[in-house]
Amino acid sequence: MTASLPAPIRLGVNIDHVATVRNARGGTHPDPVKAALLAQETGADGITAHLREDRRHIRDADLERLRAELSIPLNMEMAATEEMTTIATRLRPHACCLVPERRQEVTTEGGLDVRGQTESLAPRIARMRDAGIRVSLFIDPDAAQIETAAKLGAAVVELHTGAYADAMDAAARAVELGRLATGAAHAAHCGLEVHAGHGLTYDNVSPVAALPQVMELNIGHFLIGQAIFDGLPAVIRHMKAVIAAART
Ligand code: PXP
Repeated sequence: MTASLPAPIRLGVNIDHVATVRNARGGTHPDPVKAALLAQETGADGITAHLREDRRHIRDADLERLRAELSIPLNMEMAATEEMTTIATRLRPHACCLVPERRQEVTTEGGLDVRGQTESLAPRIARMRDAGIRVSLFIDPDAAQIETAAKLGAAVVELHTGAYADAMDAAARAVELGRLATGAAHAAHCGLEVHAGHGLTYDNVSPVAALPQVMELNIGHFLIGQAIFDGLPAVIRHMKAVIAAART
């Protein structure tokens, strides 16, 4: 009997930093929705956008347009606040990924501590599920966090790959990859769909894409930055080829 190949992996393209560039001049160019539609046309499997409390990149109107214009799944990243839950349940994107958010941070630092806030998370997750949204929790690859995510009724966990991506040397990277591998297997065992993301590039994505339980990668900063040199379609095609090759 031949061993079965892992299922194909999806690429979610995070377009936040198109909005960052637009907002630098306060106008309408470059339009993150236009970038999302181009990504869709090029083979992106989903679009991710993070509506932050301070609206530093994606804004409410961008999300409304993404929801109306995209035909591939929209994954809304958001803090687990009342304001964001209300927006999400009205907008009803395909998925919502709950992330920790601190106003002063440059980007999402570390996973959400789901264990430490089950009481506030449970009703919000239930409301989103009732609205037909697939709820994902962005967490570190920690067994207790994963088990709590399953108990809370999330459909998905997105494992934070930041510590892996930022590892200072090969030994540290191997340790972090081991944590991701163990976490992905444990999450799948708990009945959760496994996604991963943060800090992934052409150079470091393959070992994560090769983890058989990982069904989706969400990548933003590198893709948008590299698009300055190569153009968004070429960059998306190349990233898709790299992750597909890692899978086989
Ligand atoms: N996944 C989540 C939950 C995130 O918060 C981010 C950053 O916004 C990403 C993936 C993408 O990270 P990066 O921009 O480093 O590719």
